Amino acid sequence: MKTTIASLNFPSCIMNASGPRCTTFEDLKALGLSSSGAIVTKSCTLEARGGNPEPRYKKVEDGSINSMGLPNLGYKKYVEFVPELKKYKKPLIVSVSGLQLADNLEIIKAFNKTDVDAIELNLSCPNIVGKAQVGYDFEQSEEVLREVKKICKKPLGTKLPPYFDFVHFEQMASLLNKHKVDFVTCINSIGNGLIIDPETEKPLIKPKGGFGGIGGKFVKPTALANVKKMHELLDKKIGIIGVGGIYSGVDIFEFILAGARAVQVGTIYQEEGVKCFDRLNREFENYCAKKGYSKIEDMCGKLKPL
Ligand code: DHB
Repeated sequence: MKTTIASLNFPSCIMNASGPRCTTFEDLKALGLSSSGAIVTKSCTLEARGGNPEPRYKKVEDGSINSMGLPNLGYKKYVEFVPELKKYKKPLIVSVSGLQLADNLEIIKAFNKTDVDAIELNLSCPNIVGKAQVGYDFEQSEEVLREVKKICKKPLGTKLPPYFDFVHFEQMASLLNKHKVDFVTCINSIGNGLIIDPETEKPLIKPKGGFGGIGGKFVKPTALANVKKMHELLDKKIGIIGVGGIYSGVDIFEFILAGARAVQVGTIYQEEGVKCFDRLNREFENYCAKKGYSKIEDMCGKLKPL
């Protein structure tokens, strides 16, 4: 089912989340050839990074934990990939996660000169030792938004961390409204969870003593709540991309009811690869047909009161 966000047309409302399987040219090409509604890149930094020591990703029954540490090829490679990736006739979204404001400005200025369709500015990476998640610091978030908006010539979205308090939703939403971002993607993984293997008596992943971002089924209620609250608080022009714990077409329907115009998949895409997009598109279409819906607009934000 197609959708529009920030005046961009997506052939399907289901796309990959930045993170899994979107770092190399081969990964991105596979997304281009798949039924993903867009190609979203791994968050890029100024310089290439190898990331944190392994093991740094583990799946468990109800989701996943990761502390990748931003392994990526450095933004210049993604700039080089743009012309090839634009051949797939779907939006190309570059995720930008500079380690400081000046890096974000340099990276975004470089993408301004390309045919990238949109920038998803990551305000929520939990896995860099010594760097707090920007989205939890409202003063820093405002400075970043103000400076980035001055130079960004592409539709701009922000990837948000999960919020858990209504006051924090209001603070972030008012910044996003004030600085007129074009879309928001919520949520990133729930930062700094810990999963322990009782057999080995050790954490599942190596970096940061085992602390890492939690994704998958664990996070769906938090993700739905973030989409719903942002839908209530944001200007209607700001499109919402929902992400967190989507495994099925019914999950997608729930995110659209909460106010998402599109969704992203992380853990399930890591586990199933690009074939998940065929399955999810089919399941979502079938469920909507059964309910009598055929357009995103007819369902988006239409959660009924109990
Ligand atoms: C990484 C994890 C994130 O949740 C994110 O937003 C960016 C990067 C990582 O560890 O690579």
